[in-house]
Amino acid sequence: MENVQNGDYFIVKALDHGVQVIGLTRGQDTRFHHTEKLDKGEVIIAQFTDHTSAVKIRGKAEIMTKHGKIESGI
Ligand code: TRP
Repeated sequence: MENVQNGDYFIVKALDHGVQVIGLTRGQDTRFHHTEKLDKGEVIIAQFTDHTSAVKIRGKAEIMTKHGKIESGI
């Protein structure tokens, strides 16, 4: 898939220090391309894009998408 201009947004709220939001590349080659570190209480609002088809969350966080809300790291 290319030209994802209206990619879905997701929200990650860190419930602990050092939560990592890791972007994985779109296409044949699936690898990490970016790691964002969040401290407790920090929030990131991000989008799935041409470069990012999946996201991995390390640590305790609240994750919100159009599919609902889930907690990681519990
Ligand atoms: N430059 C990246 C991109 O456009 C930024 C990004 C978007 C990102 N969504 C992300 C990085 C999710 C980490 C996780 O794809």
